[in-house]
Amino acid sequence: MTKLDIIVDLQYGDSGKGKVAHFLCKKNKYTHVMRYNGGANAGHTIFHKGVKFVTHQIPVGVFFGVKSIIGPGCVVDPIVLKKEAAELEKHGIKVKGRLFVAKNAHIVTEAHKHEDGGDKKIGTTKRGIGPAYRDKFARIGVRAESVKSLKPYLIDVYEEFHGGHKKATVLCEGAQGFGLDIDWGDYPFVTSSHCLSGGALLNGFAPKTARDVWGIAKVYETYVGQKKFEPKDPVFPKIREIGEEYGATTGRPRQCNWLDIELLERAVRLNGVTHLVLSKMDVLDTVGVWKVREGKKIHIFKNGAGLRAFVRARLKKSGIPERNVHFSVSKDKI
Ligand code: IMP
Ligand code: MG
Repeated sequence: MTKLDIIVDLQYGDSGKGKVAHFLCKKNKYTHVMRYNGGANAGHTIFHKGVKFVTHQIPVGVFFGVKSIIGPGCVVDPIVLKKEAAELEKHGIKVKGRLFVAKNAHIVTEAHKHEDGGDKKIGTTKRGIGPAYRDKFARIGVRAESVKSLKPYLIDVYEEFHGGHKKATVLCEGAQGFGLDIDWGDYPFVTSSHCLSGGALLNGFAPKTARDVWGIAKVYETYVGQKKFEPKDPVFPKIREIGEEYGATTGRPRQCNWLDIELLERAVRLNGVTHLVLSKMDVLDTVGVWKVREGKKIHIFKNGAGLRAFVRARLKKSGIPERNVHFSVSKDKI
């Protein structure tokens, strides 16, 4: 039977999913890696053999010679995809024969990008995501199978995972995050896809095949977009500099705030998180301020240990085994 491990972001994207995907690929023998939502709005930063790569649509599996699929829940920009593939090939990462696009994934067209380019309300990445999903649901979109340049990449996900004999172990790589989810995020300041672990299942998998759900968050929060998110406090520009909080796709400065413990608890429960990674502990340690927010209340801690103990105690009630909660620092492999 097929088994799935799923990676989800529990905040507003940019919490380090790429790093965890890379770690899991090294650790486990996956037969496939699949991106299950979004498109070129994502920016996954990956250090592979000491070299920095930023991928937008291509799953991390290509770095390990694993079959990598852009799933039916995604929207694909064929032009950006071609460029991205060429860039990886240039650096010695073999993409040909490893990268596949689901026949029933939808296409981002030039018109979609043009339209999204005029957005002033949401602060989108201008990658045509909203218009592409709108057309998909309005039943006037274009599927990958009818785009000539994608022919060499096409894959039938049903055949691949349900075509008889197969025993697959799949890593499902999510994009964006819980706070940006079309249904559970802070509407309308959201993206247009399903960012939760449930979204992975919609790409051709039955619920009982899900094994581990890796939830990824930072020990503080960042958000990129039009809504006001960052409180006035000189500590946040410091966090932005030390944490290098600038968009991997657009280069925009990310607004910062303290960890919202209620949002984290909600995200853990609704995603069914079994393993949690809270990253960038070193950034708060460098700044020397450790705070967590809960509604209007701000919890203040004397040190990192205090913050960690508080978060661990809260998450215990959300159903993750304590040994599966990991705090990491920027230079860690996880
Ligand atoms: P869109 O997905 O480009 O339509 O953008 C909608 C909102 O999601 C905007 O606030 C974007 O900044 C944000 N967003 C989309 N993709 C990402 C991502 O990969 N990381 C962080 N924010 C993102
Ligand atoms: Mg990102």
